[in-house]
Amino acid sequence: MEETKKKIILTGDRPTGRLHVGHYVGSLKRRVELQNSGEFDDIFIMIADAQALTDNAEHPEKVRQNIIQVALDYLACGIDPEKATIFIQSMIPELTELTFYYMNLVTVSRVQRNPTVKAEIQQKKFESSIPVGFFCYPISQAADITAFRATTVPAGEDQMPMIEQCKEIVHKFNSVYGETLTEPEIVLPTNQACLRLPGIDGKAKMSKSLGNCIYLSDESDEIKKKVMSMFTDPNHLRVEDPGQVEGNPVFIYLEAFSRPEHFEEFLPDYKNLEELEDHYRRGGLGDVKVKKFLNNVMQAELTPIRERRKEWEAKIPDVYDTLKAGSAVAEKKAAETMTAVKKAMQIDYFG
Ligand code: TRP
Repeated sequence: MEETKKKIILTGDRPTGRLHVGHYVGSLKRRVELQNSGEFDDIFIMIADAQALTDNAEHPEKVRQNIIQVALDYLACGIDPEKATIFIQSMIPELTELTFYYMNLVTVSRVQRNPTVKAEIQQKKFESSIPVGFFCYPISQAADITAFRATTVPAGEDQMPMIEQCKEIVHKFNSVYGETLTEPEIVLPTNQACLRLPGIDGKAKMSKSLGNCIYLSDESDEIKKKVMSMFTDPNHLRVEDPGQVEGNPVFIYLEAFSRPEHFEEFLPDYKNLEELEDHYRRGGLGDVKVKKFLNNVMQAELTPIRERRKEWEAKIPDVYDTLKAGSAVAEKKAAETMTAVKKAMQIDYFG
């Protein structure tokens, strides 16, 4: 083990629907930047269908259909199959196998305390009917990460408790069975607005069930309609009124998406976002003007993504080929880890 530690990325998403701009600024954009940095030895991007089934067991068709949607969104954003391995979780049986052994290293009360699990149990209204598989998904997520010896997990803020739990499993495993597994680090967006992008209705989080999302696959006129209907400061009634920037979704989106070049191109009266914010706070700047600017910014960012998505939509069999090839590569890697794990656990009976 004297070789310098490899830098490996593993991350993914549940295929529960098309991906939206919250996913984009929260993680996808960063994944593409990390991919193109050339700093990583291996990059694995996983479509977590098995995890999606933990709370969609009755709707396998939904999960199945959404695999291709998520794959298209990945490719659209610039995940490059030449540089990154995109694969389907259920194609890697080692992940379930690892999960089973890790379960012995985690207590029920520890999973119960996981803040993301707690929040989801409430959201999904499971009450006392929590599926065991759902309850165990943080453990299966630790299997996903460690199977690839991932050092780096670019993900949204909501995944932080999962990474914490994974680190605990790694420590426990290594202390019981000897140094075997690699400890991962989460990589979060650096910008506060990207960390938790609100829905267009100003609700805390963009979510499919609330119908407040802008999707990466939305057509240009849909994006415009959504941006122009966005919630802003409810007390900013007339143009002359002073407006509030803090907590105002339009400004949060501008913080997440706008760059100085956008001002030069679309709104040259202002040098940067700070100047625009100052004017809004003073009064005399109307919401429509700010929204039109935001629309231009969003169109500039999302048009190339939508166009690349359309190119891939025209060759769906190639997308499936990519997933199939990626899954074979991923399986090989997970099998290596599985061998090491079985050896450490002394369950490698026949060599
Ligand atoms: N929990 C992630 C989601 O909700 C998906 C996921 C499964 C994942 N395994 C992972 C993310 C491992 C990062 C690392 O979309």
